[in-house]
Amino acid sequence: MMFTPESFVEETIASLQSTVDDIAVIACSGGVDSTVAAAIANMAVGDLLHCVYVDTGFMRKDETAEIETMLSDLGLNLNVVYAAERYFAALKGVTEPEAKRKVIGELFIRIFEEEQAKVGAKYLIQGTIAPDWIESGGGVRDTIKSHHNVGGLPEDMTLEVVEPLRDLYKDEVREVGAHLQIESSNRQPFPGPGLAVRCLGDLTPERVEVVRESCAIVEEELEAAAERGEMELPWQYFAALLPVKSVGVHGDVRAYGETVVVRAVASMDGMSARYSPIPHTVLTKISTRITNAVKGSVNRIVYDITNKPPGTIEWE
Ligand code: XMP
Repeated sequence: MMFTPESFVEETIASLQSTVDDIAVIACSGGVDSTVAAAIANMAVGDLLHCVYVDTGFMRKDETAEIETMLSDLGLNLNVVYAAERYFAALKGVTEPEAKRKVIGELFIRIFEEEQAKVGAKYLIQGTIAPDWIESGGGVRDTIKSHHNVGGLPEDMTLEVVEPLRDLYKDEVREVGAHLQIESSNRQPFPGPGLAVRCLGDLTPERVEVVRESCAIVEEELEAAAERGEMELPWQYFAALLPVKSVGVHGDVRAYGETVVVRAVASMDGMSARYSPIPHTVLTKISTRITNAVKGSVNRIVYDITNKPPGTIEWE
């Protein structure tokens, strides 16, 4: 059957109303997937719904405050959990990407179980979409990366998981979001584990702060360049901090600093992607701003020109 946002919303409301007969918690990250799932769930079973936003410490600059406003404006019953310290403690010494994703996914579910205990929830509604479970493997598929909302689910979980968007691709979720007039529908995608998968190597508050500032600079410079008509805004654009140190110089003094990579891609649904050309004038501004903003810690900026495949969009 042809997909239309109108019929999808109508059918999903009916299906949620027949499945969810008790209190449900929904994990809302503020991204388009979870916000669309929350908005539809709110229309279907609003009285039973408790929306939980977890600040993991891996959010972008000013993101928590912006998301709180957006979700409250949608009329959701919202509870914000500040969990940065717990995430950093759980991830101490964990650098292998799959291990990291598992730890993040497990703590995420534990926090929801605590919220469930507080409100007596039976269901966990999630904004999982098709690429999440396709790339997470299972059956005949290889595991490319365990997506936050799939691979990290522990086996002893007591909540029943409901995934109203699991058959949709990103562009379809955005269409549904636009139909529901959700502000985040046109925002670029952001991975569930957040900046944790953009901080390769040790996850410390200081290193995550470097990625946060670098991502903000890449976003600002690309959005300004698009506004000036110098380029089209890519589908997704960000910075990642690499686990590579190199020799540099600050003034007359030798420096041994970190490396930031700039990534921008064009894609339809995240399943495949082409790297986006960024004008050199814009790259120069990004490079100068990042090395100045995080003086002493970053002394090298590189630009990723890999398509997907063979690379993935995120570095982990
Ligand atoms: P990759 O890196 O696999 O990413 O090429 C494809 C798209 O998915 C986003 N991404 C995630 N989204 N949970 C999510 O909801 C995750 O764990 C996750 N990992 C990657 C990524 O930003 C890109 O848009």
